[in-house]
Amino acid sequence: MTTTAARKRDLLSLADLSPTELERLLAAARHLKAQPRGELLAGKTLALLFEKPSLRTRLSFEVAMAQQGGRALYFSPAEVGLGQREPVRDVARVVSRMVDAVAVRTHEQEKLLEFARFASIPVINALSVREHPCQGLADLLTIQERFGRLAGLRLAYIGDGNNVATSLMLGAATLGMQVVLACPPGYEPPAELLALARARAAAAGGMVTLCHQPEEAARGAAVLYTDVWTSMGQEAEAEQRRRVFAGFTLTRQLVALAQPTAIVMHDLPAHRGEEIEDEVIEGPHSVVFDQAENRLHAQKALLIALLNPASSFLQPE
Ligand code: CP
Ligand code: NVA
Repeated sequence: MTTTAARKRDLLSLADLSPTELERLLAAARHLKAQPRGELLAGKTLALLFEKPSLRTRLSFEVAMAQQGGRALYFSPAEVGLGQREPVRDVARVVSRMVDAVAVRTHEQEKLLEFARFASIPVINALSVREHPCQGLADLLTIQERFGRLAGLRLAYIGDGNNVATSLMLGAATLGMQVVLACPPGYEPPAELLALARARAAAAGGMVTLCHQPEEAARGAAVLYTDVWTSMGQEAEAEQRRRVFAGFTLTRQLVALAQPTAIVMHDLPAHRGEEIEDEVIEGPHSVVFDQAENRLHAQKALLIALLNPASSFLQPE
């Protein structure tokens, strides 16, 4: 995780975690899934500052805190006014004086980075334009619990190289998966994060490849993953994106090209009939609700690692 000061760590990108840290967090999440309740966050308060709507992220953070004796305080898009009602740096410093950690969902990446620079408490990226690391943690947990491992598995991501795709790619590469992304030209993940993922994959015995054909990615895959074509904040581009992404729907035909035991993943909310067929998301390969549930277990492990060093799963390597 990003160290912005000696006393705190942030999770802004999934690449902030070393392979060992990532494995430890996943192990902790598995443990917490079996034993969800305790006092490991007793007396701790988490603030949720969201500039965009949320079901899963808000719910999982709030429930995670409550199940371990802590509490969460949610601030809606209307209340936050990050950079509008007052400067980001002032919000960061005020919040740091009253709570133990903060999860921030912003429009602009720069707002998240500025918030993290000025906060003296751990800052968790609860979805930004570039990444969705908490989703990535839950995704890896879901794949691991289905297959008993991650390294060597072929993961096909089909669609927009967006925040969800980027975090998934970074996490999967860090743990040695064979990642194949099929994106329309111009809609790939950011080049520097692709390069970082490739370096991580090389170190872990995995690989990251890009193509433009969904069939090429899906063939032989253990995991098929897709996300919306139009992310929050891109609504003005929706029509154009529907045209660009035509042919990138996760269909039954694509599922038939994957391994017989393949799983189908989507972070939700889903747009049936656009990036995924209704029959696929409702079909026997789909694990989307396990994935949603795993947000709770993965984020609880993260919160405990950040807020309860005595039981930290993130010991120095
Ligand atoms: N997958 C996810 O982050 O969902 P929300 O936007 O509902 O939190
Ligand atoms: N890529 C989507 C994910 C929503 C959880 C978005 O940013 O809107």
